[in-house]
Amino acid sequence: MKSIKVKCPASLSNLVCGYDIFGMAVEAPYDILELKNTDGEGISIQHTDDYGLSTDPSKNIAGVALQSMVSELKLKGHFEIIIHKNIKPGSGIGSSAASAAGIVVAANLLLGLELTHQQLLTFAMDGEMIASGSRHADNLAPLIYGGMTLIRDTDNFDIISIPSPPLFITILHPQIEIKTSYAREILPKEVPLKDAVKQWANTAGLVAGFLQNDYALMSRSMQDFIIEPVRSKLIPAYDAVKKESMHCGALGGGISGSGPSMFMFSKDEQKARAISDAMCKVYNSTGIAYKTYVTSINQKGVTVV
Ligand code: HSE
Repeated sequence: MKSIKVKCPASLSNLVCGYDIFGMAVEAPYDILELKNTDGEGISIQHTDDYGLSTDPSKNIAGVALQSMVSELKLKGHFEIIIHKNIKPGSGIGSSAASAAGIVVAANLLLGLELTHQQLLTFAMDGEMIASGSRHADNLAPLIYGGMTLIRDTDNFDIISIPSPPLFITILHPQIEIKTSYAREILPKEVPLKDAVKQWANTAGLVAGFLQNDYALMSRSMQDFIIEPVRSKLIPAYDAVKKESMHCGALGGGISGSGPSMFMFSKDEQKARAISDAMCKVYNSTGIAYKTYVTSINQKGVTVV
């Protein structure tokens, strides 16, 4: 029997101005995924968490991604997947991507397949597809490439790794669920040109800010004229959390992915912790359960434990 255990980090996507094109792996929280390959055939799945996810391989994200690899590459043997999920599904911090990227990286390493990043991403996207109903790679790419990634073209897998200056990240995860498919459905189908101009200026500004270690430029660029006005209404106390975080010295931030999680970037850890305290204060008044994390960028993506 061969077996492997990998750590599958959470990820932020969109990074405020870059809907579907920016993603970033973070150090916390993360899932642990084990994969065993024995004699026989088929895939079996076990979840050690209480999230009630399907263990039917055709309905489980990791199962679908692995099945796609098994069929395409004609992999042999029985595969047993054991998932210890800490990233709550529907959190906006890449719970489904952690399973999809985790399983393909695990299988690649376990079987010594030496697949390219692009090949891994293709298989992972087959799994991610069943969670959101669309093929987008902004949570997956950083888990495979590490760090921050720009998805310039999803269809042709044109993925660019963006180097980053040191950053601290505060995440607030209200314990409510927002379905990605719903959060995508409610978005406008068309965008006024004047908003599009502001938005693409900000995406270019954010990349330039990261490349030049220019925190002020990063801060100015983290504005969203298209997605935030619609989705922020789904998140209780969104404006108050953002306002208090900015008062504490956040560089900027907003909704992670399709929410409900929110994130804020800071230059130093002390500010990131002050932001966490401020977020807790706001959320304590809502009566909604929540979790916060003070973390940093994960530069390696999915790794062996
Ligand atoms: N970019 C995607 C969205 C991420 O915002 O819908 C979903 O997790």
